[in-house]
Amino acid sequence: MFPTNFAWGAATSAYQIEGGWNVDDKGPSIWDTFCHEGGRLVFEGQSGDVTCNSYELWEEDLRCIRQLGLTHYRLSLSWSRLLPEGITRHVNQKGLRYYNKVINDLVASDVLPMVTLYHFDLPQALQDQGGWKSPEIAAIFDSYARFCFESFGDRVKLWITLNEPYVCAKLGHEDGIFAPGVKEPGMAAYLVGHNMLRGHARAWHSYNVLYRAKQGGSVSLAINSDWAEPLDPASPDDTAATERYLAFTLGWFAWPLFVTGDYPEVMRSSIEVRSKELGYQEGSRLPRFSKDEPSLLGTADFFALNYYTSRRVKPGECCPGVLGLKSDQDAEGVVDPSWPVCGVSWLAVVPDGLRKLLKYIKDTFNNPAVYITENGFSQVGPVDMEDVQRCGFYHDIIQEIARALREDGVDVRGYFAWSLLDNFEWADGFSVRFGLFHVDFSRPERPRTAYRSGREYAGIISKYRSQTMVNI
Ligand code: GAL
Repeated sequence: MFPTNFAWGAATSAYQIEGGWNVDDKGPSIWDTFCHEGGRLVFEGQSGDVTCNSYELWEEDLRCIRQLGLTHYRLSLSWSRLLPEGITRHVNQKGLRYYNKVINDLVASDVLPMVTLYHFDLPQALQDQGGWKSPEIAAIFDSYARFCFESFGDRVKLWITLNEPYVCAKLGHEDGIFAPGVKEPGMAAYLVGHNMLRGHARAWHSYNVLYRAKQGGSVSLAINSDWAEPLDPASPDDTAATERYLAFTLGWFAWPLFVTGDYPEVMRSSIEVRSKELGYQEGSRLPRFSKDEPSLLGTADFFALNYYTSRRVKPGECCPGVLGLKSDQDAEGVVDPSWPVCGVSWLAVVPDGLRKLLKYIKDTFNNPAVYITENGFSQVGPVDMEDVQRCGFYHDIIQEIARALREDGVDVRGYFAWSLLDNFEWADGFSVRFGLFHVDFSRPERPRTAYRSGREYAGIISKYRSQTMVNI
């Protein structure tokens, strides 16, 4: 049912698992600052200071990875652990040693690393210079990316430049509920998204020109999106709202890379219309890409998709007189009452939404190779080690991927469960558990224990891998 070289993976990110926030010359990141200074925004004032302590306990993580029988592991590098001030003038040798060990251990265990350069944790030193709002950040990100390609690219063949620019832009700079906690509705998010895309494009071109021939890897950017369909399929208003809903999430970052080198037309026109209504005078709030800069089109070697949930969509009810992304988008996503909601309220569990989204991606973005770089199911409240619902979820989602492959002809190359471990779930702190392994955060040794769903996922992997072996 699955190709021989299908990637069976799990994912984590540096700030969510590493801890060691100020040891061995690591510089602070915006999440360190956000938790320490804006702690009230995070569940019970928690932070990632220690979390799973993977900086000390990497070998425990490796044990979990091997226990699952993963073929791939997706991790992220902490930029400020490698470059405490964000720039290559000052390298933290111990940070470099840490990631070298992680990568070497993976390769020695026959597990291929997929490495994300940036998963929400900008060095604070760069935030102090304007962060992602500043146009200079694109070149600075590029030089960090080159440093990583140079240091690890002999062993790392799958790269993600940026994880979920939508979330950084919207939650970090519009709603202010993620670091750096900026709240400038309708303005900063577009600028941040723009500079992230510029940084990504530069890094991809650097890889292409300087490293691809000798390293032979692939580079992409991880885009998060819900699946969306009209609340009433017969309603033209709901259909148009659905188009806007997808354009303002998936399209925002995928259109420039895969279709036109620019934002979706419907996104630009919706923003213009709203700007006019509000009497906003100063040019477009959605920046334009300069012809003098490296082009965006074609700068993804595969489609990296983070899928969690689905929505049914109707025109927005939000405040037309207010400047903001929601009012520009003018689309409201609702959860179908038949969908079970797991743990957190946003996470309606809709496995067949993934299949529909994959088909949409195939049709819209010219049949790219797709890695599902994140997908998961959370647990909230008293710990349930016998998490049968999550077991069912993993079976269902993998069935949907098999259908996408076999019936819809989508070129799916791999699946990464979020997450290997329970970890620091951003503003929800440790109250939301996504792990295949339970982590006991109350004990200094942070013991990891497989949930039933972890054992189940291991069983699924071993079943399909042995089938593909028989096929050979
Ligand atoms: C994603 C994010 C992950 C993880 C996940 C679950 O948006 O990339 O870091 O937190 O959501 O909410």
